[in-house]
Amino acid sequence: MKIAVIGSGKLGQRHLDKWQQIAGVEVVGVIARNRERLEMVAKKYDVKPFTSLEELFAQTDVDAVDVCTPTYTHAELVKQAAQAKKHVICEKPLALTSVEANEMIQVCEENQVQLLVGHTLRFFPEYANAKEQVEGGKIGKPGVVRLTRGVPFPQGRSWYADDEKSGGLFLDLGSHEFDWLQWTFGDVKRVMAKSVKRGHEEAEKMEYGFVTLRMEDGTIAYVELSWAEPEFQASYELAGDKGMITYDHQATVTISLQLHSSADEDRQVPKSLMHKDPYRRQLEHFIQCMEGKAEPIVTATDALKAIQIAEAAVKSIQTGQPVSLSEGGR
Ligand SMILES: NC(=O)c1ccc[n+]([C@@H]2O[C@H](COP(=O)([O-])OP(=O)(O)OC[C@H]3O[C@@H](n4cnc5c(N)ncnc54)[C@H](OP(=O)(O)O)[C@@H]3O)[C@@H](O)[C@H]2O)c1
Repeated sequence: MKIAVIGSGKLGQRHLDKWQQIAGVEVVGVIARNRERLEMVAKKYDVKPFTSLEELFAQTDVDAVDVCTPTYTHAELVKQAAQAKKHVICEKPLALTSVEANEMIQVCEENQVQLLVGHTLRFFPEYANAKEQVEGGKIGKPGVVRLTRGVPFPQGRSWYADDEKSGGLFLDLGSHEFDWLQWTFGDVKRVMAKSVKRGHEEAEKMEYGFVTLRMEDGTIAYVELSWAEPEFQASYELAGDKGMITYDHQATVTISLQLHSSADEDRQVPKSLMHKDPYRRQLEHFIQCMEGKAEPIVTATDALKAIQIAEAAVKSIQTGQPVSLSEGGR
């Protein structure tokens, strides 16, 4: 399978690194615009540099492109690749808006190419295992779940801080949690959100958001999102009528399972789980999908739904009202 990566930034380089570890994959190119960094990255990963998809398509017989560029560029690049009959892997969030995402899905369907989306949380053992435990009934009937994700305010890479380019905190950061929630508990029924945004000077900017979601199965989810942390943090508490699973990225023992039943002692989820690299697992899965050996764990429609939840959160902030998704109330 011949792959080209678009983007030579953080995610582009991470993917280049992982692609090279996967048997049967040949990386035929990397695309970016800034010549200097492009040359440096191409040399580091020993791949050919290109400055456009046209150039790549003219000089290689690439099978799939892997879009690791800022969110506002996804729609154009994905459609262009699909029209050239190439399979597409696209970083999360799939697009800036649900309108764009629908168009991308349609163009990929028309051209009969796959559209695989990097909702990487589904490949993180901490999150994939928690879904399995919930579905296996370990915590009983889920009641209330709380998830948090926070990073420092995105400085330096200005497109993240520009809502017109990244979709802002709720789409950029929140789409991780929104996707995981719908994967684990089913569709979202209603969304209510609040946010605090502060700072005019670059150095003091921060944003914090809080989203309450009622899932179709009755579970209530609280999602805290922050662009105001000194360092990366993520956590969850999943409580049901038989027990609770907790995870804290910053804790020494990151995952634990506490059960009400006395027959079962409190347990930690096996440490061995934590050694699998989620990015590599994700890319290996995409190869299997493109070779027709697996059905996508994340569909493009799932990715669209994550965007719709983020849009509902933003609408709730603007109106001060809950927003219903199940009744098409976006
Ligand atoms: N799955 C995850 O866990 C995860 C984590 C972080 C980010 N992401 C997602 O990954 C994507 C990329 O984020 P990042 O942090 O890697 O961004 P980044 O570090 O700013 O890198 C973006 C890259 O895209 C290139 N680029 C921009 N516009 C382009 C265009 N029109 N054509 C070709 N190349 C273009 C830039 O280089 P030039 O300016 O030289 O073109 C740069 O190399 C985003 O959608 C983000 O949401 C996913």
